[in-house]
Amino acid sequence: MTKELTTLTPLAEDVFEGLQADNKYLPSKYFYDARGDELFQQIMHLEEYYLTRKELEIFQTHKQAILEAINGAEPFRIIELGAGDGLKTKVLLKHFMEAKVDFTYTPVDISGNVLEILKSNLKAEIPGLKIEPYEGDYFDALAEIAESPEKDIVFFLGSNVGNFSEKEAVGFLTKLQEFLKEGDLLFMGVDLKKDPAIILNAYNDEHGVTREFNLNLLDRINVELEANFDRNQFLHYPYYNPHTGECRSYLISKVEQAVTIMDEEIHFNAWEAIFMEISKKYDQKQLKELATAAGFIPQKTFFDSDNWFADLLWLKEK
Ligand code: AVJ
Repeated sequence: MTKELTTLTPLAEDVFEGLQADNKYLPSKYFYDARGDELFQQIMHLEEYYLTRKELEIFQTHKQAILEAINGAEPFRIIELGAGDGLKTKVLLKHFMEAKVDFTYTPVDISGNVLEILKSNLKAEIPGLKIEPYEGDYFDALAEIAESPEKDIVFFLGSNVGNFSEKEAVGFLTKLQEFLKEGDLLFMGVDLKKDPAIILNAYNDEHGVTREFNLNLLDRINVELEANFDRNQFLHYPYYNPHTGECRSYLISKVEQAVTIMDEEIHFNAWEAIFMEISKKYDQKQLKELATAAGFIPQKTFFDSDNWFADLLWLKEK
């Protein structure tokens, strides 16, 4: 079998595209293999990684106000994109159940395994919760689910939108908006601009977990694409630009070297960088522009006590 006849997997296609570009890059969505999931769990518990704590604080403090803001018509459905372990969402679901609200919770994830675990955990912890997981792509889920007559509230939490550039975010949110019905809502967690040192630290933790999270993608490529990256020849370099609000992570080749991936050679100059991830931070002006550009009407914003993080409620008008 020759390589030309082999159909490339999406990972292989994206890796070759990214590493053959003038400015090398790898898509951060590939961070999340089994080891990557584990590392991201660790990141969420890091002292430096304030995002998870801050959003949890928002839910704990404002759960009643959030309920009042979203609960116009019952029954409604909560569609959560990228639910993960549901740790934060659980605070809201529990509160809504205690308030005897009639709703269904639909976590969406591409991993059926993640969804099974989440479902059995939530069933045990929140008796009576109506949970209908959807295994698959975000937009497939929205196309299928949001058609239903009941009101939908899409949860997109944890600053996941930060992995898009502003332009990509407009594209993604516009598409999302087009799947919604008049009166549906988007409830979205975003990380805010703040002291640059605090932001940079969150992606440059003392124990090197974030470094490991980035290097793990090279390991993954080694295993899944028969490659020979030597992780010791790469430096982890996160960089925050306070003007754009973009925190970008790079892996930088410390030496001139060649890496082989599926018999294909990729050349690195000394100090040549691979752009790995964007974690964008917003200010109020940018958020207002983002809502307008994507066709949403901002309804309400919930902040933590330091104004480091925000959960936004946006309305689809028509
Ligand atoms: C899951 C995209 C919100 O960008 O803050 C954490 C991923 N990367 N540490 C983020 C991540 C490095 C995280 N998001």
